[in-house]
Amino acid sequence: MTSFVKRIQAWQQQSGRHHLPWQGTTDPYKVWLSEIMLQQTQVSTVIDYYLRFLKKFPSVTALANTPVEEVMPYWAGLGYYARARNLHKCAQIVATQYKGLFPSQASELQKLPGIGESTANSIAAFCFHATTPIMDGNVKRVFTRFYGIEGYGAKTDKQLWEQAYKNVMGEQQIGQYNQGLMDLGSMVCTRSKPKCQECPLRPDCYAFKYSKQAVLPSKKPK
Ligand code: ADE
Ligand code: SF4
Repeated sequence: MTSFVKRIQAWQQQSGRHHLPWQGTTDPYKVWLSEIMLQQTQVSTVIDYYLRFLKKFPSVTALANTPVEEVMPYWAGLGYYARARNLHKCAQIVATQYKGLFPSQASELQKLPGIGESTANSIAAFCFHATTPIMDGNVKRVFTRFYGIEGYGAKTDKQLWEQAYKNVMGEQQIGQYNQGLMDLGSMVCTRSKPKCQECPLRPDCYAFKYSKQAVLPSKKPK
């Protein structure tokens, strides 16, 4: 059987998104900026902000050398302003402690302000060929449905992460795989009315087999 990773990669190549402004670069500054903006904001909103921000602050040192008050206007409208303050703090740490070069290890990236495990893993895979999986809302939806993972909260998250790491073991081009999972989650395995007929995972999907798409992922208990 073709591995889960290879099925997602083949789908991403055929049907995934390829023309987002942060794709086609392995510059960690550009990838990091996109990942931070995309943490709580949808792709269609992020695009304009991202391009404007990069034009004004073309490098991590340019960003670090600008007072945070002068950065905030370029974030205004994206919300979650703690993200912008962490972004600026992170840029200053990279500029001063890392000579302007982002660390390549996910474990090092994760120590920086605003970078959690999934964001660290995403940057490491896109920019440094790391074999590191992501786990965001879209990926959780695909995994809970495909594997039939029920429940909610820390214990379920641990199961999801374990599955994520297991899947990438011995695989390559994990950046493409991670992108494919995000794209599949937002384009095919949608919250309501998933397009299972178009899904490369359908032959082995738990939710499809047992018609559980509407009850997975499990809702937060009341
Ligand atoms: N959300 C987080 N990272 C993303 C990416 N690279 N493409 C689309 N959506 C994302
Ligand atoms: Fe999601 Fe349907 Fe694909 Fe299963 S078959 S992963 S429910 S889109």
